Amino acid sequence: MNKIRKSLAGLAIMATMPLNLPAQTLVVKPTAPIAPIQPTMYGIFFEDINFAADGGIYAEMIKNRSFEFYKPLMGWREIRKNETDGHVLIQNREDLHAANPRYASVTVAGNDHPFGLANEGFRGMGIKQGLSYDFTVLARTKNGETINASIELLNANGQQIAKADFKVSGSQWKKYSASLSASQTDAKGSFRILFSGKGTVDIDMVSLFPQDTWKNRPGGLRADLVQLLADLKPGFLRFPGGCIVEGHDLCVRYQWKKTVGPVENREMIVNRWNTEFAHRLTPDYYQSFGLGFFEYFLLSEDLGAEPLPIINCGMACQFNTGEVVPLNQLDPYVQDALDLIEFANGAPDTQWGKVRAEMGHPAPFNLKYIGVGNEQWGPQYIERYVVFEKAIKAKYPEMIIVSGSGPFPDGKDFDYAWGELKKMNAEIVDEHYYRMPQWFLQNATRYDSYDRKGPKVFAGEYAAQSVAIASPDNKNNWDCALAEAAFMTGLERNAEVVHLTSYAPLFAHVDGWQWTPDMIWFDNLRSMGTPNYYVQKMYANNAGTKVVPMELDGKPVTGQDGLYATAALDENTNEIILKVVNASSSEKKVEVAFEGTKKLAAKGRAWVLTAPSKDAVNSLDEPTKISPVEHEVKLSGKKLPLQLKPLSFVVVRIKK
Ligand code: AHR
Repeated sequence: MNKIRKSLAGLAIMATMPLNLPAQTLVVKPTAPIAPIQPTMYGIFFEDINFAADGGIYAEMIKNRSFEFYKPLMGWREIRKNETDGHVLIQNREDLHAANPRYASVTVAGNDHPFGLANEGFRGMGIKQGLSYDFTVLARTKNGETINASIELLNANGQQIAKADFKVSGSQWKKYSASLSASQTDAKGSFRILFSGKGTVDIDMVSLFPQDTWKNRPGGLRADLVQLLADLKPGFLRFPGGCIVEGHDLCVRYQWKKTVGPVENREMIVNRWNTEFAHRLTPDYYQSFGLGFFEYFLLSEDLGAEPLPIINCGMACQFNTGEVVPLNQLDPYVQDALDLIEFANGAPDTQWGKVRAEMGHPAPFNLKYIGVGNEQWGPQYIERYVVFEKAIKAKYPEMIIVSGSGPFPDGKDFDYAWGELKKMNAEIVDEHYYRMPQWFLQNATRYDSYDRKGPKVFAGEYAAQSVAIASPDNKNNWDCALAEAAFMTGLERNAEVVHLTSYAPLFAHVDGWQWTPDMIWFDNLRSMGTPNYYVQKMYANNAGTKVVPMELDGKPVTGQDGLYATAALDENTNEIILKVVNASSSEKKVEVAFEGTKKLAAKGRAWVLTAPSKDAVNSLDEPTKISPVEHEVKLSGKKLPLQLKPLSFVVVRIKK
C-alpha cells in the first residue's frame, strides 16, 4: 500500500509540473544558525474533554463502575423476567469509605430466572472477535451465602458473544475475576452480570478491560490511541488540562492526590464538560481517575515526553463560577504543588515518593516543568502565582514554572498578564489561541517582535476554528490544518522565544464530544488522525535542533505570494530540514539555494501533505485520505528545485 502511495505521489508530481513559471529563490543559510530548537518544541496537550479519558484512552469499558454518578444507576439497567425476580438497593457507607461510598446490593429472589444488571458502556462497547477481556468486581454476600454469577458480552442486537461464570461467597469484600473471549466484533456491544440462587450480593468496582491495552498493561490504556500519540514523538505531555484543572467550582477542581493509589480509592467526580455546552449536554460524563497522575507520568515516560503537569492555583474556571481561595488560605494548594514534585521526583523514603514507589515506580519521573494555573486572568491570578512561584523556587530552584496569560491571544487581560509576568521575570508564559484560519495565516509573524530576553513562550493551546470558537459546526478540515502549518513556520522561526507548543484539544469520541475541532477522533473500535494531526506529526518528527535562516528577497518567508517557510538543522542526523507551506490556490515553482554549505547529498526525501479542497477532511472510514505522501527530491549542486502544489505543506530532509 505504501509503495502504491509513493509511486502515485511521483506521478502526481510529474503531472502537475508547471510549464514555464519563473522560479522564486528561497535562500537557506545552514551555516548561520539563529537559535536552538528545544527538544520540547512540539508536544501534546491532554485534557479529559470529549471522552478523552473515561470512554477514550482509559480502556475501562464499564461506565459508572462504582455507582458514584449523581444517578447511581446511570449507565446500568436491571435485567429481570418478572417483577419478583430481584431488586437493587444502592448503599452508602460514606463514614467507612469516603472516596468510594456507594455500592449496589443485588437481591435475588431464588426464582427460576436470574436477575442482574446490564451496562451500556461509553456509547456502547467496542468488542473485538477473538480478543480476551478481563473482568473484575469487588463483591460479598450479605449473610455469607453463595450466589452464582454469570457475565456476558452482548452484540448490538443483544445476542450473547462471550460468557463466563463464577460464584460469590462469604461476607467479606473480595476481588473476583474472570476472563471473557469474544466470538464477534461489534462497536456497539454491551455487558451484563446475572445472579442466580437466593440471597443478596453486594457489588462495587465492576470492571472490564480488553487485554490488548498499550504495552498489555492490565487496567491500562487503549493501544491504538496511545500509538497515535507515540507516532508524534512528542517533546512533552501537558496534563490534565485545560479547564478541568480549574473545575466549574473549586469543589470539583482537579486534585491530583485523589487520583493516585489503588483505583477503588480514587474519588470520582463530575467532569466539568458534563453540562458546559447546552448544545452538547453529556450528563453521563464523570472522572473515574483510572487515568490519574501516576498514569500520566508513566505515559509521558512511555512517549519519551517531558511531563508537564498543570496544577490548580486556587481559582475555579473564570468562565463559570470564578471562585477564588482567599490568599490567606492558599497554603493547601501550594502544598499540593510541592507534594506533586515530591511524588514525581522524591526518593522512595519520602512521603510522596513512597506512594509512587508503591505504585510500581521507585525511580523518579524526573519532572522538570510545572504549570501554575491553566487559563486564569486578572490580578487574582498574578497574586496567587507569586505565592506559588516563591514556594516552589524556595524548595525546588531547578523547577521550571509555566505561568499563563489567559484564554485570549490579545486584549486587556493578556497585556496585563504579560506585563506583570515580565516584571517578575517569569520563565515561560502559556498563550492560547482558538481563532479563524485567517488569523493563523496573519500571525505567522506574531513572535518575530517578541523580546528575546523576556519570558519564553508556551503556545499551549491552539487550533484554527472553521466556523467560530468551539462552534459545534467546526471541522478539522484542510483549510484549518494548512493555516496551522503556515502559522507554525512562525513558531519554529522563533524557536529562540517559543519553547513549547501544542494543539488543543487532543481527542474526541465521535458520539461523546463536547468541543470541536480536535486532533484525533475515535469510536469504540477505530481511531484516526485529522489533517491537523498530520501537520503536527510532520513538524514533531522533523523538528531539528537549530533553526537557520530561510529567506525570500532577504526576508523571512511569512506569506509573500502565499508562501511560508522555515529551515532547521538536525545535528543528530546531519541534515537540513525545510518546511514550506504554499497557502495559495496556484502551484508554485521555487528554487531553494543553500548558502555557505560545502557539500550536499544529490538526493533528499520529501513528505507532501495536501488535499483536493479546503473543506476536505479525514474520516474513520477514510482515516488517511489526507496524510503525508513521501517522495524523492533531486538537487542540482547546491540548489533544490521544488514544485509546490496548491494548498500544500511539504517537509524536505537533505543530508549535508
Ligand atoms: O481545549 C478546550 C479548552 O479551551 C481548555 O480546557 C481551556 O483551557 C480552553 O479554554
